[in-house]
Amino acid sequence: MKKLAIFASGSGSNAQKITEYFKNNPSICIDCILSNRKDSYVLERAKQLNIKSFTFDRTDFYDTDKVLAILEERNIDFIILAGFLWLIPQKIIQKYSNRIINIHPALLPKFGGKGMFGIKVHQAVVDAGEKESGITIHYVNERYDEGATIFQAKCLVDPNDTPENVAEKVHKLEYEYFPKVIEEVVSGL
Ligand code: GRF
Repeated sequence: MKKLAIFASGSGSNAQKITEYFKNNPSICIDCILSNRKDSYVLERAKQLNIKSFTFDRTDFYDTDKVLAILEERNIDFIILAGFLWLIPQKIIQKYSNRIINIHPALLPKFGGKGMFGIKVHQAVVDAGEKESGITIHYVNERYDEGATIFQAKCLVDPNDTPENVAEKVHKLEYEYFPKVIEEVVSGL
C-alpha cells in the first residue's frame, strides 16, 4: 500500500476530491492531511472525511524536523500539494525527491512563481488577454513552480471571462485530472 499525505493551506476542495477518489483503493491511500493554517477549511473537510490531520507553523516547518518526523513515522511515500502556499524546505525535498507533486492553476511556465496563487493567477491570465489557461501538475523542487511538468490540460478563456469564470473552468480540470495523474505517478505507470 502506498501512503500519501496531502498538504493544503486553504479550502481543500482538491484534497477532498483526491481523498474521495482513493477511498477503497487497494494500493493507494490518503493517510493524512497537513495544513499550515489552523483555521483552514481543509481541516474541517479532513474531519468529515475521517482523515487524520496535523497543523504546523513556520518555525515547525523551516526550523525543526516536526513535519518530516510526522511523514517518516507514518511511512508516507508521496506528498501531494493541493493549494499549499509555502515553499517546501530542502530537507523534505531531498528525502522525497521526485515524490512531491503539486498542481498549479495555469499553464506553466506562464503565470507561476512566488505570489502567484489563487485568484491572482486567473486575474493575471485575464489581464494578459490569454486565449487559454489550464492546469499544470508537476514535481516539486526548491523553487516555486519550477519542477518538471508531469501533465497539463487546457481550457479556453473567452474575452468576456472574469477571473472567477476562469477559476471555475480550471477547478473543473483540477477535479477531473489531478486524482488520475496522482494515481499514474504513484503506481509508476
Ligand atoms: C487550486 O486552484 C490549486 O491549483 C491551487 O490552489 C487551489 C486550491 O483550491 N494550487 P482548493 O483549496 O483545492 O479548493
